[in-house]
Amino acid sequence: SCAVADNNRFDCWPEYIGATQDKCQARGCCWQPATTPGSPYCFFPPDYNGYTASNVKTTASGVSADLTRTTTTLFPPDIKTLKLQIDFQTESRLRVKIFDPANARFEPPVEVPKGAKAVSNPQYKVKVTESPFNIVITRASTGATVFDTTGMAPFIFADQYLQIGTRLSSQYLYGLGEHRYGFLQDINKWRKLVFWNRDDIPKVDNNGYGSHPFYLNLEPNMGKNGVPQAHGVLLLNSNAGDVAMQPYGQDRAGALTFRFTGGLIDMFVLLGDSPLSVGQLYTQVVGAPYMPPFWSLGFHLCRWGYNSSDGLTSVIKRNRDANIPYDVQWNDIDYMDKYKDWTYSPDNFGNLPSIIADLHANKQRYIIMADPAISSSQPAGSYPPFDDGKRLDTFVKTENGDILVGKVWPGETAFPDFFHPNAYTYWYTQAKQFHDKIAFDGLWIDMNEPSSFIDGSATGCSQTSKYNHPPYTPGTIDGGSLVQKTICPSAQHYLSAHYNLHNMYGWSQANITRAALNTIYGNKRSPIISRSTFVGSGRYTGHWLGDNDSNYKDMAYSIPGILNFNLFGIPLIGADICGFRGTTTPEMCTRWHQLGVFYPFMRNHADIRSPDQDPASFPSPYVAHIRKALNLRYQLLAVLYTGFFNANTKGLPIVRPLFYIYPGTEAISNQFMWNDQLLISPVLTQGASTVNAFIPRDRFYDYYTLSPVNGGGRVVSLPAPLDTINVHIRGGSILPLLPTTTRTDDARQQKFTITAASSLNGTAQGELFWDDGESSNSIPSKMYSLIKFNLNKNILTTTAAMKGYMPTSGLQAGVVYILGVPQAPNTVLVNGNTEKFFYVQGSQILKIDELSLDLLQANTITW
Ligand code: NOJ
Repeated sequence: SCAVADNNRFDCWPEYIGATQDKCQARGCCWQPATTPGSPYCFFPPDYNGYTASNVKTTASGVSADLTRTTTTLFPPDIKTLKLQIDFQTESRLRVKIFDPANARFEPPVEVPKGAKAVSNPQYKVKVTESPFNIVITRASTGATVFDTTGMAPFIFADQYLQIGTRLSSQYLYGLGEHRYGFLQDINKWRKLVFWNRDDIPKVDNNGYGSHPFYLNLEPNMGKNGVPQAHGVLLLNSNAGDVAMQPYGQDRAGALTFRFTGGLIDMFVLLGDSPLSVGQLYTQVVGAPYMPPFWSLGFHLCRWGYNSSDGLTSVIKRNRDANIPYDVQWNDIDYMDKYKDWTYSPDNFGNLPSIIADLHANKQRYIIMADPAISSSQPAGSYPPFDDGKRLDTFVKTENGDILVGKVWPGETAFPDFFHPNAYTYWYTQAKQFHDKIAFDGLWIDMNEPSSFIDGSATGCSQTSKYNHPPYTPGTIDGGSLVQKTICPSAQHYLSAHYNLHNMYGWSQANITRAALNTIYGNKRSPIISRSTFVGSGRYTGHWLGDNDSNYKDMAYSIPGILNFNLFGIPLIGADICGFRGTTTPEMCTRWHQLGVFYPFMRNHADIRSPDQDPASFPSPYVAHIRKALNLRYQLLAVLYTGFFNANTKGLPIVRPLFYIYPGTEAISNQFMWNDQLLISPVLTQGASTVNAFIPRDRFYDYYTLSPVNGGGRVVSLPAPLDTINVHIRGGSILPLLPTTTRTDDARQQKFTITAASSLNGTAQGELFWDDGESSNSIPSKMYSLIKFNLNKNILTTTAAMKGYMPTSGLQAGVVYILGVPQAPNTVLVNGNTEKFFYVQGSQILKIDELSLDLLQANTITW
């Protein structure tokens, strides 16, 4: 029974090291050498003992069963009696829960939706087999596999080792963050990805800053929109864990094995008619992304090491003088007094309040760092952030009940327990008191994996605790350790052990910080950018991809990173432009700003050891190139803002892979799209003057010349001089563009240019979301306007579908471009009146300018 082909083996020695034949066989597993790299020598025999299901009951609202096993497995104690509860939540969503009916176990405190009482027309079929117990979920209409444990890694539910496997529907697999890789996972290789939030520079396959055990898998059948049907699966578990991928099966569609060191099996299974709809279903489970204020979509400038007010002032000045479109200035930890949170250095940054006043007077905003760790070594009574936390009992404790002491920038530190009922009062008070002195407009929460420079804690992280050295430890970058560079897993939060909550620490800081800022700013929205994230963080915060290097490889890796976080429902995402570590070059930094135009969160940030890389620090030709890129960003602000509205209200991603529209492009991650409107083909190499870009078989228009390009569904070489990033408008889109400005506040006062790009059928649609840019209640209270654009052959209409926001200056379009007009019109009528126009024969462009179209009224343009 041990004759199993290499690719069909399921690893019975998941530990990092230490497999031997004897030890393997002592587990009741097979030992056979393998020739395929990565395939295990130690693997489960196909008849390995499992659970038996009994009492299987199926109703219109789900399936339940009792599960029992008699044997023990590799990491006992096994929980031998379990309950299976499958809820049919909606026609396209089910929840599969397997738990211990006798003892409540830890569950991540993420709010998730309940299901309906009964589902009349489910898109799925569920079969639960009794002996051996298996779950098979298929798509009712096609029979495609959605989740199927049959013949996979045995299902195990021990106290500290849970294992569940599924075969995949196809090798097109995405998600499973936070890990650096291409967007498409390579199921042809044996790989393992670990979920244990970690402060380290991003490296391929390492456990990253956050954990998102969610994947998207394409199915073999096409959906209604001509793209494959797809499903998504969330394993809602915050314990340390991993997922193994292998090229299983004859078709090598692949198999996944998830392992977690605690909690339950709690899965949300989502059936979409397309990959895009899976993402929407996912945000319905984890929560809609936060709607950022308009100003936060401008350009952000940061570095670690301005070192002084003078250093900061001179950088602000030179970028203003260079006319750089630039909305937000940041400060890293060097503004603090000895790196203590909620203080600023009287010596180096004494006049920070007046710098901020000057920023505000120049329509700029200010964001500041607030690390979670709080200095614990100040004299009693001298540092309220520590004293208050002690009084309110809001610090994480050791297993002995003392305040846990770790080490971060200020030296010895305590760690707020953001799960504590007093955490909000505590954190809000610190933020508010500091805000009264330093009028920040948003917060940057870093080091919240949490990072600590001593492993575990100064004292009280015992060797014997079952949490600190569990029977199975996933292969973290430290060779399988849960204590390295973080606080002790046996540490106690109010809710549970750090062991269970570690992967949610950054999530909890974002949650409490969001609540605190909501109170501080009353009815205004404010951005938060968090380094560590978990399932559902997008409701509270944005994210950046952490400490990348100033090189082209890292620049390229940012694209899959941005795509992944859009899939995870965190669209406010960016990477440090020009790279954080090391020395960029003017050319690289130019190319990176061009790419960064299309990061929904656009920030240039550098390490303390890196030379200056702010736009104005470069020789003048490069300053001009970067300014040109930033001008492009500011033209696109309303397109991006409307994208965020759709993210918030419909769960739609902003940055999308090409395959959401064009089958055959599943592996592309050097190009991407914005909404379904723009195709972006950045230069990702040094010295390039062209870029090889795949142009799908469809109608596109060059963003700059507005000339039509008929894509042939193949790679073409496009000119890409140093001052240009290739951007194509997809036929069928209508974009509300803004003129170039240097501040988002100024952009809001301008007239729009409506660019309507006809599809091959001569049609196009678009919309514009507009509100005051910052009110918290503009969407829920419908205090916004929504303008719909429609092009049908020779008629362009604009309609105000919502008129909840009517600025006194009006909402106007000054210029209209129609792209792809095959013949010169004789006349153009705007709302029935003849209007002068320009027509460019070869490029098929119709332009009507000097307009004052009131977009809050209906308009019709015909030709
Ligand atoms: C680590 C962050 O990732 C980085 O962006 C920051 O500059 C440093 N911490 C210092 O605060």
